[in-house]
Amino acid sequence: MADEDLIPARSYWLKIGAKQVAAQVTDIKYKVNVNTLEHLAGKVLELNEIAVCNVSLDRPIAFDPYSANQDMGGFVLIDRMTNATVGAGLIRFALRRAQNVHWQALDVTREARAELKGQRAAVLWFTGLSGAGKSTIANLVERKLLALGRHTVLLDGDNVRHGLNRDLGFTVADRVENIRRVAEVSKLMADAGLIVLVSFISPFRAERQMARDLIPEGEFFEVFIDTPLTEAEKRDVKGLYKKARAGELKNFTGIDSPYEAPLAPELHIETMKAQPEDAADRIVDAILKDGRI
Ligand code: ADX
Repeated sequence: MADEDLIPARSYWLKIGAKQVAAQVTDIKYKVNVNTLEHLAGKVLELNEIAVCNVSLDRPIAFDPYSANQDMGGFVLIDRMTNATVGAGLIRFALRRAQNVHWQALDVTREARAELKGQRAAVLWFTGLSGAGKSTIANLVERKLLALGRHTVLLDGDNVRHGLNRDLGFTVADRVENIRRVAEVSKLMADAGLIVLVSFISPFRAERQMARDLIPEGEFFEVFIDTPLTEAEKRDVKGLYKKARAGELKNFTGIDSPYEAPLAPELHIETMKAQPEDAADRIVDAILKDGRI
């Protein structure tokens, strides 16, 4: 119901009756051609398209199959950034796994794991254009934290794409899944008591918000490495902007794929005004202030 595609792995609000919960389409089973009823494969849902999907919610809801009760079996999907209604759905049935997979309570908490390391867990989420300086600054921040005796880990987009996310490319849908996975990994590592540095372009506000929502209040720091496109393109350390301009690389961030700058990051680093060393000092000072981590 919206011009923007519905992307699996993106978090939407799902409204059913009076209840609103967070929901992700975890799988587009098949799209339906409304004229022929033919089943079609698809990775995203475009305006007016219809599909049979799996949906995952962040908490249980009461519902009836739509065939039995239209009021308790129908829902709408709402964009979490704009609050616009972007889709509508009819429930057929709950998947069996929804009842058979339970949450296992653990005795050792994330606080206990962090305390043993003499710190508080945190996620420092570096976002910015390719070539903005995210990895350079994140690397310096990690070195400084290590020198202060902090236990850290650095997840870098280029590196994670060599392993866990090697199956993903640079379409919008693949980037959303890329960030969903790294957000979940950063949560697991923060649960281990670590200070997690994440350096990914992470171009979309919605997925950065999803990452933030996984981490306790006050322990997520969005660090916007702000370099103008003209400057990143001028530096072009990896030669990728040149390729993108020549049409040899599609969906390149800033050229033919969007970058949504943070609106209220915890830290805003303008690389035209500060050297990487100074930027890293500022970040370390800010996060250590008041014993926050
Ligand atoms: S993200 O958009 O999904 O967050 P990520 O940080 O994992 O991107 O990967 C970005 C890195 O992949 C860039 O630094 C660059 O080296 C490389 N890359 C290759 N193709 C592209 C592309 N089309 N757009 C952006 N970066 C690309």
